[in-house]
Amino acid sequence: MKKIEEIKNKKLKGERIVMLTAYDYPFACFLDEVGVDIILVGDSLANVLLGLSSTREVGMKEMLHHVRAVVRGAQNTMVVADMPFEAYQNGPQQAVENARQFLNEGCHAIKMEWFEGCLDVFSAVIKAGIPLMGHVGLTPQSVLEQKGMKVQGKDLESGRLIIKNAKVLEDIGCFSVLLECVPMELAKIITARLKVPTIGVGAGVYCDGQVLVVHDILGLFKGRSPKFSKKYIDLLPLIKQAVEQYKKEVLAGEFPDDAHSFHMPSDEVKKLGSLKF
Ligand code: KIV
Repeated sequence: MKKIEEIKNKKLKGERIVMLTAYDYPFACFLDEVGVDIILVGDSLANVLLGLSSTREVGMKEMLHHVRAVVRGAQNTMVVADMPFEAYQNGPQQAVENARQFLNEGCHAIKMEWFEGCLDVFSAVIKAGIPLMGHVGLTPQSVLEQKGMKVQGKDLESGRLIIKNAKVLEDIGCFSVLLECVPMELAKIITARLKVPTIGVGAGVYCDGQVLVVHDILGLFKGRSPKFSKKYIDLLPLIKQAVEQYKKEVLAGEFPDDAHSFHMPSDEVKKLGSLKF
């Protein structure tokens, strides 16, 4: 609960919140060392790590597997896990049981995307004492209902609805609200109206915090990254170059060289060579 209060207090103090995804131990260690505020074990795991086409395709089993690795690496950082689609299809009771599993593994909170009729589920989770980050705007788990991965809330009516939904999430007790792919002007209004922090992804600079997929900012994702994502380094070509060099050296018998090999004393070598088996 201390971590949740720290995140909420950041808004009161006018401090921005830095959040990134991680799905495994090494990345969790890097982010922890740099000192980001929140690590999100996102269900983007489906596309980024598992090569699946929809986030609906990851379930509790996969999420828990990756959450355990991240928690091991995130010594000091708050960890939030995405509730996968399958985890709440049977209603509030199932959602609470699954959400609790993430907390039992060491997560500090969970995140859930808005869906038609979500409030019973969200309220049950919060009443069970599980800190919840709500997610509105573009909600990839409901992308079919939203008719594709596109910016949400661009006109008066849809913008009004997103403001209303964000406010309801605050009122039922979400400790923060993530805004995905909405116009920056809309995110500014929501951020000003909510007491809890907003975290933006494709929602402009006025949110209280920002989140991106770590593989996108490092240039590690082979697919097309969204327009709002910024590549801070292009690692894929460097990785490819290193792997090609390794392949070349192995094929040429240049690797391993002496510096990467072990020796035994020469008299032992002689004895070993003359032994009969
Ligand atoms: O799964 C995910 O990566 C997300 C984004 C909002 C960052 O939910």
